[in-house]
Amino acid sequence: MRLRGRIAYKCLILTFFVLVFLLICLDYFMPTGKRDQFLTQLPPLEKDVSKEETTSKHIESDPSASRLVNLTNFKYEIPNDVCRKYDKDLLAIIIVTSYAGHDELRAAHRLAVPQAKLAEMGMQRIFLLAQLPPTEKFITQKQLLDEHQRFGDLLQGNFQEAYRNLSYKHVMGLRWAATDCSSAKFIIKVDDDIIYDVFHFRRYLESLEVQRADLVASRAYLAGYVLDARPPVRNNANKWYVSEQEWSRSTYPAYLSGWLYITNPKTATRLVQEAQQTPFFWIDDTWVTGILREKLKINVQHLNAWYSANAEFIDCCVRDLKQPSSYECEYFVGPNGGDNKLLVEFLHNVEKCYFDECTKRPPEKSLKKTCVASAKHLLPDHGSVHVKQVTLR
Ligand SMILES: *[C@@H]1O[C@H](CO)[C@@H](O)[C@H](O)[C@H]1NC(C)=O
Ligand SMILES: *[C@@H]1O[C@H](CO)[C@@H](O)[C@H](O)[C@H]1NC(C)=O
Repeated sequence: MRLRGRIAYKCLILTFFVLVFLLICLDYFMPTGKRDQFLTQLPPLEKDVSKEETTSKHIESDPSASRLVNLTNFKYEIPNDVCRKYDKDLLAIIIVTSYAGHDELRAAHRLAVPQAKLAEMGMQRIFLLAQLPPTEKFITQKQLLDEHQRFGDLLQGNFQEAYRNLSYKHVMGLRWAATDCSSAKFIIKVDDDIIYDVFHFRRYLESLEVQRADLVASRAYLAGYVLDARPPVRNNANKWYVSEQEWSRSTYPAYLSGWLYITNPKTATRLVQEAQQTPFFWIDDTWVTGILREKLKINVQHLNAWYSANAEFIDCCVRDLKQPSSYECEYFVGPNGGDNKLLVEFLHNVEKCYFDECTKRPPEKSLKKTCVASAKHLLPDHGSVHVKQVTLR
């Protein structure tokens, strides 16, 4: 037995050396071309290397990558990879247009719903910023970098903050959401001075996914507060004055208020593409969700009943939610009326309604009957929304 085993062992060793010898001979006599062929058939050491090369080449050869609308040397001053880090598919990415100097407002958003809580709900949020103008005295780029280091939720473009540059910011946000967050099913675009019930939107979008899968997957989804057939401001003393050259028609196509609207990555991609080949117009919501949308023949979905033009109504909702009766709020979106903390108060109080701890508001207790609104009733139109940003510079 032992002897046979030893012979088998020696045979094995011998065969091995013969095989090695044969391989060396084969390699030596093979023409070089064939040798390379043999090499290319080996699996690449790192699978991703070849892939990365092709994608970076693709970006380099894509002339629109460094062009945003008509800005030819566009780039991100602060890029953002929040969606790449999120390992599941997102229900929604919230993009908040913010003025770089509005750090307190951003703090209120984070206090109202921290990113970790949003993550639990299948959502993430980023703030869209431009570059600080030289006149800015209260905040520095260093502070913005620190803010981003801490919270990781800023996206800054290299064009300057200006209300006439809001369209760049808007398109930048859509483009980022469509390319760097394309796994999100929805995009919610909000202004930083807007109060919105994120729990309501989560519930609504989740039900929409089930009931209107066609709409969710479509390349034409835009929903929000519809402003129809609005005339441009033709009084040139007004900050929102629009000349005949800028817009010659007597009305704008129907558009969605920039306060808050919902879209999806497929629709955003089309809007961004259209923005690259349409004359620039500086009123951002009118341009993106009106002029560009009309060219693409996308219909808008009315969610007008959800919006309150009065900050007072939101204030009264907070008051009522704190009462034992806990009446539900009639509105889900409204302005903060200059009160940065209202967003925090509203969200901290409204959340219990999603644990069935609120009661339906009886008609005689409607906000219109019980809440004294002192402010002039303003539509969620531009003119009321962006004024605050304008006064900052
Ligand atoms: C982009 O277009 C707008 C409007 O036509 C114009 O005012 C602006 O100067 C242009 N910007 C560049 C960088 O060409
Ligand atoms: C808009 O941004 C561009 C690029 O940074 C800048 O040249 C321009 O002055 C800005 N517009 C206004 C009105 O400040």
